[in-house]
Order: sequence, then structure tokens, then C-alpha cells
Amino acid sequence: MKTSTLLSSALIKQEIRDACKDLVLPDDQLRLLMQKFIDEVNKGLAKATHDDAIVKCFTTYVQDLPDGTEKGNFLALDLGGTNFRVLLITLDGQNFDMKSKIYAIPQSLMLGTGTQLFDHIAQCLALFVKDLKLQNEVLPLGFTFSFPLSQHGLTEGYLVRWTKGFNCSGVIGEDVVALLEEAINRRNDVKIDVCAILNDTIGTLMSCAWKNQNCRIGLIVGTGSNACYVEKTKNAQCAIPGNFSEKKPHMLINTEWGAFGERGVLDFIITEFDRAIDENSINPTKQLFEKMISGMYMGELTRLVLEKLVNAGLLFGGKCPGDLRKRGKFFTKYVSEIENDPKGRYTNCREILAELGLRNVSDQDCENVRYVCSIVSRRAAHLVSAGIAALLNKMGEDNVTVGIDGSVYRFHPHFHDLMTAKISELQPYKFDLMLSEDGSGRGAALVAAVASQRR
Ligand code: BGC
Repeated sequence: MKTSTLLSSALIKQEIRDACKDLVLPDDQLRLLMQKFIDEVNKGLAKATHDDAIVKCFTTYVQDLPDGTEKGNFLALDLGGTNFRVLLITLDGQNFDMKSKIYAIPQSLMLGTGTQLFDHIAQCLALFVKDLKLQNEVLPLGFTFSFPLSQHGLTEGYLVRWTKGFNCSGVIGEDVVALLEEAINRRNDVKIDVCAILNDTIGTLMSCAWKNQNCRIGLIVGTGSNACYVEKTKNAQCAIPGNFSEKKPHMLINTEWGAFGERGVLDFIITEFDRAIDENSINPTKQLFEKMISGMYMGELTRLVLEKLVNAGLLFGGKCPGDLRKRGKFFTKYVSEIENDPKGRYTNCREILAELGLRNVSDQDCENVRYVCSIVSRRAAHLVSAGIAALLNKMGEDNVTVGIDGSVYRFHPHFHDLMTAKISELQPYKFDLMLSEDGSGRGAALVAAVASQRR
């Protein structure tokens, strides 16, 4: 390469670094974030401040961790990620069997009426049960519903807000269990006993705890992001007396950390790219922490940075294919795929750029695209790590296992390692990160199992 080309590519690299610098979070900023997060968690937990709190820390009424003796056939529904699933789970000691079916939720349903959504859910459930010829049995069901719920008990949960791509009318403020039961009764062709409603973080924690008694935190880094953890019952101040046992030492708390950052709390790290994502979302000013982390937004964040670099003449010689200018065209899975190319090879990167209409891209441009992907995914991993480190500090115990599920954590090639390194830097306790085998399904069955035994 000529000296002048080398020089200009070094200059371009530097300018790209400068353009991305706000996306790099030094430890002192992460530590400040941890402090702010814990302040918010404490506001969410305390009765006096809960109503006005941003990080709600909802009481889940789940107080028993599984002990491996759970038995029986359970149905589970899983709504809230990219797909909707119906499952039949058989638990028997440490054996576990699962049959499941995935149903698409078209965007028209995600943005339609609540009645349409719940009728669709009930229809899928009925088809599934009849397929298995179980329509004459009364089956206990655990409903994983991965949105913020204000729960009054294990089978009573009022939707506080929709998140991710959902916005169905007539559901906010309603008891989601009642809506499901009404839809099942409208059909009147299957017998279901809804035993529990739970968040996907709770399902993940329970599922991992079934295998590993140290599991005390459940984390999702998928379409959305959220964490739950084991709190002392006496600190769950918002739990409704009579609906839980004061004698049991623990209560699982669903933090709903996705909402963190609202009302300016994270302005010190919010970038122009985050603002653009927020403004174009269906829930502006809401779920800001989630928008900096999760799979619903990561691809688009990357695209916005790439577009800026092209406009500044720092990528692709300043020429931009039409698709790279279109919102939503750079998928989150591209970030994982591009970062999965071995060092110095750009096979996935070139394939993806070709899909977007760019051919004959130089190695240097590919390297720069990869750099942008890594900056966006690293920031997400570091933000999640700060949240987990703050919870570990709050729990103050060694050897906590964090059960994790979600497409970003599962498929990104470095997310796990980035988290392990950063959490170790940010807090002193020993911990483990454990990928959940089937977070929502088995977890929902386990919660339903404990609840139906109690009945
Ligand atoms: C929801 C949470 C959920 C998370 C992960 C967020 O948007 O508010 O309830 O746990 O996504 O699915």
C-alpha cells in the first residue's frame, strides 16, 4: 500500500473513532450508572415512592425456588419476544420433556385490539391442546407474559404499559389473566386452569434454578431487556398483605429495568443515535435503557452510526446504498454475524453489505463496519453488566448465578465474555453467567407446578 493511502486510512480510522466516542463508556460512567440504578431500584421497592418510580421493581408473588421434586404435565404460553409459543411440559424429578409449537404474531395483531390478540392466543392454545388430544383434561397453565405487570397475586396482573413492538388497544390497566380466561371461555372448547402469570426473567431464573441452586438473578437480553432477582420478603414493601407468605424468606422482584433512563436520569450517556431511535419508536421517551441494549434496536443503532460515517465521507467513499438509508434495514443479527467473522476475514460482512446493495467493498471499509458493530454491541454488554453488577452489590453474596436468555446474549459471539470481564471489574463478588436452556417454557411450568401444588 502507498504511504499516502496508509496515512489516509489511519486518519479515517481516527475520525471514525472520534465520531463513535460517545458510544464508549468508561468505568467511571458505568459506576455512576450503577449508583443511579440502585437509587431507582430502591424507589421502586419502597411503598412511599413506588407509584412515582421509573424502575418499578414489581412484586411477582413467586417465593419458592424449585427444588427438583416438581412433577406433572403443564401447559405454558410464552408471549413477548419475537414469537408466540405454546408448550406442553412434563416434569418428573430431574427429567423434563417438552413439546412446543411456535406461532407468528403478525404486526397487525401486535398493533390491533386486545380482544383480537387474546382470541388469537386462545385459538393457538386450543389447536395445540386438541392436536395432542388433551382437550378433556384440565391442564394447569403458566403464562409467560413479558411486559410490565403490576401484580396483585400469582394469577392477577395488570398491564402497566406495552413495550417492544406491541401496542394493542384496551389492555393497559386490565388484568391480563382475566383477558386470557375470557378468550378461552369465548371458545369453550378446552379446559385450562391458569395457575400463574410471570415475566420471562422469572421464567429464566426458575428454569436455571431448577438445575443450579445458586441462581438468584434472571436476565433477558433479547428483543427487550430486563432483570429480576431474589429479594428478602421484608423488602418487598408493595406486596399485598394476605396474598403472600411473610414467613417465606424470599420474594422474586421483577425490576423492569428497561424503563431506566426516563426523565433524564441517563442523559449523561445518551447519544444522538439514541435520541433518533427514541424519536422514531412507537413509545418515545419510554424504555430508554432497553433501547440502548436490546435486539429490537441494536441493528438500527448500528445503521444510524454507519449512515453518519457515510455522510461524513468516512465509509464506502461517501456513497451509500439506498437500503442503508432505510430505517430497519440493518438487522440486529447482522451485528452478531459481522462480529463472527474471524479476524482479518470479512465473509459475513461482505455478504451482508451485498444484501444491502454494496459490492466490491475494501477490507478497510469492512474493518470499519465491524468496528461500528463492536462499539454498539460492547456498549450494550457494558450497560447490562453495570445493571447486573449493581444487583450483585445489592445482594451482597458470593457465588450468585445469573440465568440468562435472549437472542442477543445467545447469538452474539462476544456478549458473554464481555459481560464476564466487565461485571468482574465493577463489583467484588464471585458470580457465574449461565445460559438458560429453555427459559420461558420450563420456568413457567415450574411456577405453575408450585402454584397448583399449593391449591
Ligand atoms: C419488558 C419486560 C421483559 C423484557 C424482555 C421488556 O420490554 O418490559 O417485561 O422482561 O422486555 O422480554
